[in-house]
Amino acid sequence: MRNAQQTRVIGHRGAAGEAPENTLASFRLAADQGADMVELDVHLSADGKLIVCHDETLDRTSDQTGAIRDLTEYAIRNADAGNWFSSDFSGERIPLLEEVYEALPDSMEINVEVKDAAGSALDPVLLGFLREDGRLERTIVSSFDHKLLVRLKQAEPKLRIGLLYAADLIDHAGYAAGLNVEVYSLHPFHELIGARDTSDAVTSGLAVYPYTANRPEQWQRLLELGVSGIITDYPGELRNYLIQKEG
Ligand code: G3P
Ligand code: MG
Repeated sequence: MRNAQQTRVIGHRGAAGEAPENTLASFRLAADQGADMVELDVHLSADGKLIVCHDETLDRTSDQTGAIRDLTEYAIRNADAGNWFSSDFSGERIPLLEEVYEALPDSMEINVEVKDAAGSALDPVLLGFLREDGRLERTIVSSFDHKLLVRLKQAEPKLRIGLLYAADLIDHAGYAAGLNVEVYSLHPFHELIGARDTSDAVTSGLAVYPYTANRPEQWQRLLELGVSGIITDYPGELRNYLIQKEG
């Protein structure tokens, strides 16, 4: 049993270093490798479905093209999302968000990164989804769009929100406090957080989950800072690293 002091392993897009990102194969691999949480990215399709994909278009990570916001679930689900990575994964589909929740054990947390910057159409769809089946309790919603996060938090006070940023902030915890809603976690680019920033954040009751660190020397620096968890493409390797360091 891991205790609260131990660093959480957060699988980026599942286990994106070893499986096609944001597919069920990738999320299941992260779970099998001992991740505590997975991070994923969501967009809204033309017919209002929550689609798990990093880019705005299907082009890079499937055999189809086009913008998710212009495509229906049917068209998106027709795409092969595994073969571009390796023929071992051919037949993988671009998942709906609900499939990821169904595929993972209830004990696993899910960090939903909202990518859709097209407006507020996604808000009621996402909140409606998260309010069902106890999903709110296992979810952190993060975004680079902090206005969107504040809006979601005001609409659903039980939602945990995490601030994503790649800025060299003078006062990380102070910035979060200035939003005037309760922030659960900070998700800075890993190179842009230091020891003072982390200790201020943890003292303020914030979790600190830097992204995306893939190498042992990066993990070592973050452990020394006392971060709460690390977002990585290699959750299995990070788990093994932490077992050696933390037991
Ligand atoms: O949530 C952490 C990380 O995923 C943010 O950047 O571009 O990989 O979605 P990106
Ligand atoms: Mg992401």
